[in-house]
Amino acid sequence: MSDPVQFPPGFLFGTATSAYQIEGGWREDGKGLSIWDVFAHTPGKIRTGETGDVACNVYRDFQTDIDIMARLGLNAYRFSISWSRVLPRGAGSVNQKGLDYYSRLVDALLEAGVTPFVTLYHWDMPLPLMEAYGGFAGRETALYFADYAEALTRSLGDRVKNWITLNEPWEHAVLGYFLGEHAPGRRHPWQYFRVAHHELLGHGLALERIRLFVPDAQVGIALSMHAVHPASDSPRDRVAAMLSDQLCNGFFLDGLFRGVYPELLMRRAWLLRPEIGADDMTIISQPLDFLGVNYYSRIFARHAWHVPFFRAWMGDDRSGVEEEFVEDGVQYTAMGWEVYPRGLYDWLMRLTRAYNRPTLYVTENGAAFTDAVSEDGRVHDPLRIDYLQRHMAAAARAIAEGADLRGYFIWTMMDNFEWVEGYRKRFGLVYVNHRTQERIIKDSGYWLQQIIAAQRA
Ligand code: FCB
Repeated sequence: MSDPVQFPPGFLFGTATSAYQIEGGWREDGKGLSIWDVFAHTPGKIRTGETGDVACNVYRDFQTDIDIMARLGLNAYRFSISWSRVLPRGAGSVNQKGLDYYSRLVDALLEAGVTPFVTLYHWDMPLPLMEAYGGFAGRETALYFADYAEALTRSLGDRVKNWITLNEPWEHAVLGYFLGEHAPGRRHPWQYFRVAHHELLGHGLALERIRLFVPDAQVGIALSMHAVHPASDSPRDRVAAMLSDQLCNGFFLDGLFRGVYPELLMRRAWLLRPEIGADDMTIISQPLDFLGVNYYSRIFARHAWHVPFFRAWMGDDRSGVEEEFVEDGVQYTAMGWEVYPRGLYDWLMRLTRAYNRPTLYVTENGAAFTDAVSEDGRVHDPLRIDYLQRHMAAAARAIAEGADLRGYFIWTMMDNFEWVEGYRKRFGLVYVNHRTQERIIKDSGYWLQQIIAAQRA
């Protein structure tokens, strides 16, 4: 293992979570249903048959985890708000108990010296908006999203200054509406671009609203940045890689930073083009205060005669693997994702160069490995330490070369409900016994504690 990495003074070290993956309390205190409540309860959708009904029990007890954050020296925390907890019908009357919960959570974080980064939408669409408009397939939902943002700013805006509108709009659109592997479980390719466009529109409208009610807010969005490489040197694979990159990265980046969608992609996908209102691209491309980068791995694109860019992506999907493994000298996590730290460096530099040196945060980075409690009662996870060490070193190098990176959020604080994988994929710095809710800080958690302490020494 190489030397610990050095970050600039004031750098934020945090972890990231999302509401459905950790909160539980799915029907408590007037919460409405979300598409994930329904999806997880539908037989056959979650590989392990599990749900987020209880998850990590954080709705009932957030203090245990905040105490661990303080102990590890973490000074930031990214969490998401359950839209259905705050607005049980997605729009209309506010559920005060839901809002109070988040208000107490924010107070407890600040009390522990932890800066909150709030994500408004991490995929858990209120069911009534799904039923009425198809979620983000309908333009109306983008408008309601802005009202929801306003409701949050009114109650949290005095204390929360860092706001993330959406988490990974690409994943939500593609997994939820194209492949049907995530909620709402639709396989409607013709809705894909509509969803993606309306998500971005919702982002822009929410951003305006947040700025209005919290003038000193920092507003950003968290995008998954996929390093896309051609599967071979053949010209056709290279075109597939370019299209693939435009589909999962460029569409969102160019939309947000340049107010246009990538031309080649839109030409190829002309049949699926979304309807774009006259002001939409102006609303979408209002200046961001920061861009959140979620980075995990790279993918390879291969030409295929039909929808080439898309098929290529699916062909390299190894989800469903049970364990981490090494193949041809390349290491993979328990998700089947290649460990490729260089991709994080490349992305931070590409964003720095292509979009005029935006302020960046790594809003998610981490790995699932087959962690278990040892006889000594501890959880030894050397592979995660190695993964984090190498990715943090890549980030530090990007800073040294000019990237304006201000913080790093590890996915995730504690083992939680990993969507279709249920609880068996463990990404946490903290091990969770999901039967008893007991927490055990993994070796990686203690490793991070030392890294942070060394920074501040
Ligand atoms: C990201 C999601 C997050 C988590 C990680 C592993 O795509 O934003 O909720 O599932 O992957």
